[in-house]
Amino acid sequence: MKKSITFSVLAMLWIVSATADNYYGLEVGYYGYACPQAESIVRWTVFKALERDPTLAPAIIRMHFHDCFVRGCDGSVLIDSTPGNTAEKDSPANNPSLQGFELIDEVKAALESVCPEVVSCADIIAFAARDCSYQAGNIFWEVPAGRRDGRISSNNSIPGNLPPPSFNVKQLTDIFMQKGLSQEEMVILSGAHSIGVSHCSSFSDRLYNFANTGAGDPTLDAQLAQQLKLTCPVTPPPDPIVPMETVSPSTLDNVYYTELLKNRGLFTSDHTLLTNPPTLKVVEISSSYPSIWKTKFAKAMVKMGTTEVLTGSQGEIRKNCRIVN
Ligand code: HEM
Ligand SMILES: *[C@@H]1O[C@H](CO)[C@@H](O)[C@H](O)[C@H]1NC(C)=O
Repeated sequence: MKKSITFSVLAMLWIVSATADNYYGLEVGYYGYACPQAESIVRWTVFKALERDPTLAPAIIRMHFHDCFVRGCDGSVLIDSTPGNTAEKDSPANNPSLQGFELIDEVKAALESVCPEVVSCADIIAFAARDCSYQAGNIFWEVPAGRRDGRISSNNSIPGNLPPPSFNVKQLTDIFMQKGLSQEEMVILSGAHSIGVSHCSSFSDRLYNFANTGAGDPTLDAQLAQQLKLTCPVTPPPDPIVPMETVSPSTLDNVYYTELLKNRGLFTSDHTLLTNPPTLKVVEISSSYPSIWKTKFAKAMVKMGTTEVLTGSQGEIRKNCRIVN
C-alpha cells in the first residue's frame, strides 16, 4: 500500500515535470554520443565570427525566428532558390535584410569535418542563436536539440506566417498563437528589437505618410522621427539602415521596453504593444525588471525553438545547409 502510494506520487511528479518541459521530442545534450564536440564547435565558430562582425548576433537571432515561423524550425530559411523555385530567403521579408548565412555555412563545414551528416542545419541555427544571445546580452539557455532539416522552402510560405511590421497587437497575437506562443511570449520575444538594425522601408510610412494622412505617425516620438528623417528618404530606394534602439543598439537588453514606453519603438508592431492593457503590463514589467525579462526571454526562445519541429525519421540531415540532399 505504502509502496504503491510512493509510486503514484513519483509517477505524478514525473508526469508534471515531463509536461512542464515539453520539447516535442527534442532533448538537451542530444549530440552527446554522436558528436560530443558539436555545441562547442558551434560556440567557438560563432564567438570568433562575432569578434570580426558583431552585427551577426542580431542577424542570427532573427534568423532563428524566421526559420521557426515558416514551416517550423527546420532550416528551410537556409535553402537557396533554384531555377524552378523561389526560396524563403528570397522573399522580400528576408532579402536583403536577413544576414548571417555565411556564418551558418562556416559552422556546418566545421561540423561536417568532425562528424559528417550528424548535426542538422536547424539545430545549428538554434545553437548559434543561443550563443549570440549570450555574447550580446549575457542571456543563456540550454538548447533542446534533435531537429531534422526540411526539404521544402518557398517564398509563398511567408505571407500568413511571418508578421509584417505594420501589424497591430491583435494580428501579432493571432500569428504567435498559431505558432503555440502566448501573447506574453510575443511581447517578451519582441525585446529582441533592442539589438540590430532596420531598413528605412520597414517603418518610413511612420515618418511621412502614415495611414495616408500625408503626415507622420503622431504616436512616434517627435525627436526620434526628426532624427530618422535625416537618414531615411521619403520613398526608398535608396534604403539605408538605422539602429532599432538608439540607447544600447548592440546589446540585447530590456532597454527596448524603456524606449517603447517613451514612444520610441521603431515599428507599428512595436508601438502597438502599448495599446492594450495586458501587453502594456508586460512592457512595463520588462522595462522595470531586467532580470525577469531575461529569464522570460530565455524560456520563450526555447519554446519558439520547438515550433513544428521535425524529429526521428522525418526530414533529413542536410550535408550542405543551402541544398537539399
Ligand atoms: C513581433 C513581430 C515582429 C515583427 C513584425 C518583426 C519585424 C522586423 C523587421 C521589419 C525588422 C527589420 C528588417 C529590416 O528592414 O532590415 C526586424 C529586425 C529584427 N528582428 Fe524582428 N520582428 C518581430 C519579432 C521578432 C522576434 C520574435 C525576434 C527574435 C526573437 C526578432 C528579432 C529581430 C532582430 C534581432 C532584428 C535585427 C536584425 C539585424 O540587425 O540583422 N524579431 N524585425
Ligand atoms: C514568389 O516568387 C515568385 C517568382 O519569383 C513570384 O512570382 C511570387 O509573386 C512570389 N510570391 C510571394 C508571395 O512573394
